[in-house]
Amino acid sequence: MQQDRLWNEWHPVCKAEELLDDPKQVFVLGERVVIFRNEKGVHAFKDLCIHRGAALSLGKVKDGNLVCPYHAWEYNSEGTCVKIPALPCKRPIPKKARATVYHCQEQYGLIWVNLGDEPSPMISYPEYHTEGYRTAICGPYEVKANAPRIIENFLDVSHLMFVHEGMLGVEDHAEVMDYDVEFIDNRFITSKIPVYQPNPDGRSKGGYADYIYEILNPTTARFTKTTEGSDEEFTILLVVNQEDKEQAKAFMLLTRNYDLDKSDDAFIEFQDIIFNQDLDIVESQKPELLPLDLQAEMHLKSDALTIAYRRWLNELGVENGVIALSDEKRSKRKSSLVQ
Ligand code: FES
Ligand code: CO
Repeated sequence: MQQDRLWNEWHPVCKAEELLDDPKQVFVLGERVVIFRNEKGVHAFKDLCIHRGAALSLGKVKDGNLVCPYHAWEYNSEGTCVKIPALPCKRPIPKKARATVYHCQEQYGLIWVNLGDEPSPMISYPEYHTEGYRTAICGPYEVKANAPRIIENFLDVSHLMFVHEGMLGVEDHAEVMDYDVEFIDNRFITSKIPVYQPNPDGRSKGGYADYIYEILNPTTARFTKTTEGSDEEFTILLVVNQEDKEQAKAFMLLTRNYDLDKSDDAFIEFQDIIFNQDLDIVESQKPELLPLDLQAEMHLKSDALTIAYRRWLNELGVENGVIALSDEKRSKRKSSLVQ
């Protein structure tokens, strides 16, 4: 089923450093999920105790097991209930006493959850592990919008000179040169798109920087910015988790191969300002769900990348499926729960 695409994607739920000793509640595609860490790694379950429906995220981790806050049933990493304190001695734990387990992993400084039965591979972001590169994590940014709206805004070149005037572009240089969009190795990638920067990264006088954009999956995109004659690279990876119908959470990984000895703070502060400038626009856009019918809005050649994105979402059948999918799946999962 095409709609399983989103269900089988990895969704970023929090920074890895935020998940320490206590379990944490997160939301993915409308699903309430608990994540926790033990010595085996990180784990995600449906945030619901099968006994009386309490949120397991209110409990604690004890000896590597997740303990329900209500009657202290203990679940191991595989979701198997291994202790029921109210059971008289020697009485076996019912086999059906299990948590619903989701896929979970720690990667690129984030915790990721995958609800699907056939998880897609984790995205590749080689810069994160490359020597000579340094990554700072921004966000999470809370956005009252649908994930594709947030991704599309990130891919939109021709707003830089207006929404981010004076920071990422200037109005006098608003033209966008024609560029190519190709689909290679399961991702979209553009040719270099020159954008006049008033003061690229606050480090020089102004001039053109080249942006290469990529779309890695429906909720993940990146660009790399370079300047001719320089080896410096600056990359932003944007990953968005659609938490529920109204709410999304965006994380950004900012990776650079210069100023490695400098603190990340200035980069993060700059990006916080940029994101906030976008926020008002993205939350104002109607309809809330990205229109995938290309007749619905007007397009220019400079919109080639976002047109490719819309077409692709349409082909994948994820259209507005971020939530529709979740409702359908949720009812399926519910019916499989033990009484
Ligand atoms: Fe979790 Fe009773 S509701 S142990
Ligand atoms: Co913007």
